[in-house]
Amino acid sequence: MSTSGTNPNEAWGSRIGLILAMAGNAVGLGNFLRFPSQAAANGGGSFMIPYFIAFLLLGIPLMWIEWGIGRNGGRFRKGHVPGMFAAIWHHPAAKYLGVIGMVIPLVVLIYYTVIESWTLAFTWFSVTGDYWSANTPESMQAYLASYQAIGDSSVHAVWKPFLFFFTTLAINIWVLSKGISGGIEKLAKIGMPILFIFAIILAISVFMIPPGENGIGAVQGLEFIYKPNFSELKNAKVWLAAAGQIFFTLSVGMGTLQCYASYLSTSDDIVLSGLATAATNETAEVVLGGSIAIPAAVAFFGVSGAMAVAQSGSFDIAFVTMPLIFQQMPGGQLLGAMWFGLLFFAGITSSVAMATPVVAFFREEFGYRRETVAWIIGGVALVFGLLTILWLQYGFLDEWDFWAGTFGLAVFAFIEVVLFMWVFKPEEAWKSLHQGADLRIPGGYKFVMTYVTPLYLGVILVAWAWQQAFPILTLQNVKPGTEFYIHASRLIIVAFIVFFLVMIRMAWKRNGYRDSEGFVEVTNTPAGTPPADPRHTEVAG
Ligand code: ALA
Repeated sequence: MSTSGTNPNEAWGSRIGLILAMAGNAVGLGNFLRFPSQAAANGGGSFMIPYFIAFLLLGIPLMWIEWGIGRNGGRFRKGHVPGMFAAIWHHPAAKYLGVIGMVIPLVVLIYYTVIESWTLAFTWFSVTGDYWSANTPESMQAYLASYQAIGDSSVHAVWKPFLFFFTTLAINIWVLSKGISGGIEKLAKIGMPILFIFAIILAISVFMIPPGENGIGAVQGLEFIYKPNFSELKNAKVWLAAAGQIFFTLSVGMGTLQCYASYLSTSDDIVLSGLATAATNETAEVVLGGSIAIPAAVAFFGVSGAMAVAQSGSFDIAFVTMPLIFQQMPGGQLLGAMWFGLLFFAGITSSVAMATPVVAFFREEFGYRRETVAWIIGGVALVFGLLTILWLQYGFLDEWDFWAGTFGLAVFAFIEVVLFMWVFKPEEAWKSLHQGADLRIPGGYKFVMTYVTPLYLGVILVAWAWQQAFPILTLQNVKPGTEFYIHASRLIIVAFIVFFLVMIRMAWKRNGYRDSEGFVEVTNTPAGTPPADPRHTEVAG
């Protein structure tokens, strides 16, 4: 395996590029796929109240905290969480805690690229009108099931899902190997405007659907989501689902925002940029994500029909209901291609972000070439992605989504808030966030970030552990015969954790880092200026 001593530092080319890339990181399948089904399955208007509370008390504070942790790590040229944590807390445990910020994005990346490949496939199937003969819910379900289930060649040849998965991975590897400004930033500059244009066209088309004979149309779909409903607020499940959605959609607790922020200098603003990223994500989610799938489903199937689809599985609204609707709309093939195309762009701008912490780790600590790490990650995603495809029907993906994509995000976010606001201390954190800032964070937020956010997270973690983690851990509610696959999915996560713990230990030894001393600060250079080889400047001791 080739290693090189090339300079691993990278930088964003422009502020607009950074914001688009950060927004691309956050805006993803979660906005257009997960949000509508979560909102519908948790009672529409009753979901939105805890959702906005979680956005204000968890989402925005954690967005700032992660930008702060990331940019602070960048001062020592650390684009990976073990290094960022070690820069804040000079304790041997700090770097090992950071392992979560490597394993979560890697595990999510693997199953996320599988789903992303479905969106690429369905874009193609829309362009070619492939599903136009599947015009009943049952036949469209069978169409999707044949694509997802290996061995069911009733509609799709077995090689098709593999072809689209390989293609998706190849595009991801190609973008990653081009680097931060040459790959990720360029992708965001192309992908994000296309995504927004497609979403606006789709939302307008949905609201042009004439109401049915009963007077029910897309507007009733909007009412269902946005009309405040206090009846479900006593239900802890709704609060947990809302917090989980905020984590996933904003990519907080994932390790990726920090990595992107590490390529900023202390003269760059992070307060306004972090807020702009959160606001862009929420516009994409609440305004656009909320104006397409649910209103369209309500217009065609009524409120109870849309809720039933949402509860039947998170993929059904996007991959079954929407194709049925497109078949009844003028220009349906084009609209279908736009819908799945927008999902693909949303997905890929997030999946490349999930690979960046691991790329940064191996480049910065072991001197590997970016292209080499991109190919290795592609290989890992290929092997475990194939397992995800083969074992989909046994709940393998759902298990990973719960531990890495839901519970793990809250655990990681809790560690981050404690390290940044308590170990680093509120005063230091506040000062660090405001370096180069174009905006001051309202003073009340210092209290929120110091006390409310960690407390809120603590309550959520306990409630989650009580309500879901213990039943899941003890295999209650699993389908008989699937236990092996569930155990396998967990063992793979454990194996990833052990692997990265060993790699972290090796990295610290190899580079002679001393935990108690932290790292030597690297001179700040304007974005885009390639600084010196970090191993000449940052090795402590
Ligand atoms: N934040 C990304 C999404 O919403 C992961 O899909």
